[in-house]
Amino acid sequence: MKNPWTPQSWRNRPIQQVPTYPDASAVSRVEGMLGKLPPLVFAGEARTLKATLAEVAAGRAFLLQGGDCAESFNELTADIIRDNFRVMLQMAVVLTFGSALPVVKVGRVAGQFAKPRSSDTESRDGVTLPSYRGDIVNGFEFNESARIPDPQRLLTAYSQSASTLNLLRAFATGGYADLHEVHRWTQSFVAKSPAGARYEELAERIGESLSFMAACGVDSVTTPQFRETQFFTSHEALLLGYEQALTRVDSLTGDWYDCSAHMVWIGDRTRQLDGAHVEFMSGIKNPIGLKAGPSLPADDLLRLIDRLNPNNEAGRLTIIARMGSDKVAKHLPELLRRVKAEGREVVWACDPMHGNTITASTGHKTRPFDRIYSEIEQFFAIHRAEGTYAGGIHLELTGRDVTECLGGAIDIAESDLASRYDTQCDPRLNGGQSLEIAFMVAQSLKKLRSRG
Ligand code: PEP
Ligand code: CO
Repeated sequence: MKNPWTPQSWRNRPIQQVPTYPDASAVSRVEGMLGKLPPLVFAGEARTLKATLAEVAAGRAFLLQGGDCAESFNELTADIIRDNFRVMLQMAVVLTFGSALPVVKVGRVAGQFAKPRSSDTESRDGVTLPSYRGDIVNGFEFNESARIPDPQRLLTAYSQSASTLNLLRAFATGGYADLHEVHRWTQSFVAKSPAGARYEELAERIGESLSFMAACGVDSVTTPQFRETQFFTSHEALLLGYEQALTRVDSLTGDWYDCSAHMVWIGDRTRQLDGAHVEFMSGIKNPIGLKAGPSLPADDLLRLIDRLNPNNEAGRLTIIARMGSDKVAKHLPELLRRVKAEGREVVWACDPMHGNTITASTGHKTRPFDRIYSEIEQFFAIHRAEGTYAGGIHLELTGRDVTECLGGAIDIAESDLASRYDTQCDPRLNGGQSLEIAFMVAQSLKKLRSRG
C-alpha cells in the first residue's frame, strides 16, 4: 500500500523541471515564511468554481480560460491587469451572446509565473546559461547573475499575486464589469480591428436589451448579476514548494486546498503517473487541469484520471488538449472515445496555442493564427463526431496591441513581429485576435445549440 497523501508527500517522488538553487536551506526558509502568510483564495471559492465546472461538464456552460503565458515582475501595472481582464470580459460577452450559455471566466493570472522548459540551458553566441524558468525562479535577462535561481523571488511572486488578485476582485465586483459598461470595454486599437467593429454592433444590441429591461424594472440595482461578475484565477502548479506552502486545511470541510489560486493545472511535461506533480495534485480538492499533448496515450490518460479524480466528480478535472492543428485529428478522437466509454466525467478544453508554436525566419517564436483557428475548429468537429461536449478554450492572450502571433484580420506578417514582441515566454494573441477567436467559437456553439 502506498503512503498516505500529505502536502509534502510529493517530495518522495521523482520530479521534473525543478530549478537548482545554490542554497537549499534558503529555499526552505522562504517556504516556511510563505507557509505563515494568508492564503490568496478561500476554499469556498474553489468549490464554487468546481460546481460551475460541473455545469460545463454537463454541457450547460462554457469555459474561457486565458491570460499571459508568463506574468512578469516588471509588468505589475493596473493598466496591464485591466487590459487583460477586459478582453476576457469582451470575449465572454461575445461567447454568452452567441451560445446563450453562461461563460466561466478563469484567468491565467495572479500566480502564473513558473515555466517548464524543454532544455535546462540556453546558449547565445557561444555562451551557455541556465534557462529562464519564469520570474518566480530567475531573471529573464541573459546574464549569469540573473539566471541564478533566487528563492526571494517566491515571496515577490506571492505579493504580486496578492496585489493582482486584489485589483481583479475590485474590477469584478466594484462596477467595472457592470454589463452596462459593455461599450467602454473596448480599447481604441481593438475597436479599429474588424472584430472590434463586430463587437460594437453586439454591444449596441446588448445596450438596447438592457434599456428594455430597465424600462421593465430590471437593472443593475435590482439584479446584481448585471453589476458583478465572477472571475477566477489559475496557473500551472509547477513549483511544488510554493504550492505546498499555500496548501491549507479548509476549516469548513477539513479538506486540503491549494490556496494559491482557484484552479491549478499539471503541465504536459510534468504529468508522469508516479511523479511528484501528479502526487501533489491528487490530494488537493481544488478543481484541477491536466494538459494532454499528442504523446499521451489513452490508457495513460485513463490511469491519470483514476488517480486525479477517483470519485469521478464532475468539475474536478478539466482535460486541456494541446495537440497541434496537424495532430489533433489523429490523437483526440481516441481519447474522447475511451473517456466516454469508461464513463468518466471531465471537462474537455482546447489549448490551441502550445501545439502550434513555430520559429519565424526572424528568429521569433510565433504561432500562426490560422493554425490556432484550425485546431479549435477541428476540436469542435471531433467532439461533434464523437458525441462529446467541447467545453472550453484555453488561450495565451493579452489585451494589448502586441505583434506576437502571425495573421488574423489585421494580418501580422513576419516582418511585423519585432515591433511589439513583448512576451517573456510564448507568443500571445493580441486583443483583436482574441476577439476574432471568440466570435468564431460563439458561431460553433450557436450551431451546436441549433442542432440541439
Ligand atoms: C503553458 O500552458 O504555458 C504550458 C507550458 O503548456 P504545456 O504544459 O501544455 O506545454
Ligand atoms: Co505558454
